[in-house]
Amino acid sequence: MASEHDVGSGAFAVGIYLTFSEFSFKNESISVAFQANPTELCICNKERIIVEAIKEIAKSIDFDPYRYRKDFPVLEQMIHGMPLVYLDNAATTQKPNAVINTIVNYYKRDNANVHRAIHQLGERATLAFEEARKKIAAFINAPSSRQIIFTRGTTESINLVASAWGEKFISEGDEIILTEMEHHSNLVPWQLLAKKVGAKLKFIPFTESGVLDFEVFERILSNRTRLVAITSMSNVFGTINPIKRITRMAKDRGIPVLLDGAQSVPHLPTDVQILDCDFLAFSGHKMLGPTGIGVLYAKINYLENMRPYQGGGEMIQSVWLERSTWNEIPHKFEAGTPNIAGAIAFGAAIDYLNRIGMSQITLYEQELTTYALNRMSEIDEIVIYGNAPERGGVISFNLGDIHPHDLSHFLDQQGIAVRAGHHCAQPIMRKLDIAATTRASFYFYNTKEEIDYLVDKLKEALKFFSP
Ligand SMILES: Cc1ncc(COP(=O)(O)O)c(C=O)c1O
Repeated sequence: MASEHDVGSGAFAVGIYLTFSEFSFKNESISVAFQANPTELCICNKERIIVEAIKEIAKSIDFDPYRYRKDFPVLEQMIHGMPLVYLDNAATTQKPNAVINTIVNYYKRDNANVHRAIHQLGERATLAFEEARKKIAAFINAPSSRQIIFTRGTTESINLVASAWGEKFISEGDEIILTEMEHHSNLVPWQLLAKKVGAKLKFIPFTESGVLDFEVFERILSNRTRLVAITSMSNVFGTINPIKRITRMAKDRGIPVLLDGAQSVPHLPTDVQILDCDFLAFSGHKMLGPTGIGVLYAKINYLENMRPYQGGGEMIQSVWLERSTWNEIPHKFEAGTPNIAGAIAFGAAIDYLNRIGMSQITLYEQELTTYALNRMSEIDEIVIYGNAPERGGVISFNLGDIHPHDLSHFLDQQGIAVRAGHHCAQPIMRKLDIAATTRASFYFYNTKEEIDYLVDKLKEALKFFSP
């Protein structure tokens, strides 16, 4: 029987970035209270969400990561004589055989360029490429696969919006609201744009717990705000931001919202229609897919009004010596030969995640993260950064005065892969007045046993580095 907490997590998982207080479940009566706005979810098929939540909660009790681990050949190896414990999933995830074989089979049997050739291989490659687009659209509940633009990843997706939309619609004196917890990928493109067009950047600060300060957000929204660009899950604190609340506040003022979904889409069920975001950027490699492939989702009216991003083959309709006209979306934004194998393999990754169920993944990762936080807090010398009530499986910490690089090297000697550094979020480090952190980040194939092993080795590290 699931505990009250489990049921809450399930509701949260399927509620998709709604806070616990907005979406609270009662186990026995299955009553649902939408405290903030009882009617809000009706427009988004409330019943479907509730039924899915209950089904997924029931399934989650049986979640067995060992069942999936055997699909990941990389996890079977020894590192420095120890079994690999891979806890760097926020940087990139490992790939299952289903994804690896898709790439191999594509190159062995179907390799051809897309949308051009009339021959068999060309048709097969085009069909598989466009099928992948459809799978990704369905995965985030995009109304149409035309709204899925293939890019190299989150970074390129955000740059695409800054360039193709921002340069056209943002001008001198306009304001763009970001947060202080952004990855450089959702900061630097806006700095470049602001400099180019004379716009201003404004920032929602984070509190000591690593959550956003909504009072400031409310204050800095103005009639000059042209965009709110925000991470849906912090790659440092693990904080899951209440996106629905953010989009609601922005939409009340007619302001579009861009979500950096690099950390959230791989771990949480994502429904762009519920979230009501205008742009969503994410990367294949953080969700079992290959590197070099990612997605920009956008609402149709934005895509239709945006300038092309890059010029070249595929993105044109007609070309004269002096001028050109543009292809239809999504092709207008996909100049040149795309990462065909990458897109098709991303589709295979989506199939794999769907077979497990995203709500199941969220629930299991919540359980694993709570377990890890509890076990790590046994160590007095540990400082964990961020303790948001809604958080994902990313834990940044420091251990005594051991430098994160030294700790990471020590753990590597024990077979444990974690990340040490500023995690491409230097402004966070500056505000916390630290140079770096060590970061452990989980995916559904991680186990409690691995967390126990990490905690044992952290305790050993303290002894090893003590003077
Ligand atoms: C929150 C966040 N945004 C953006 C990115 C950039 O993703 P990519 O390097 O795949 O473009 C990352 C990568 O770590 C991230 O964690």
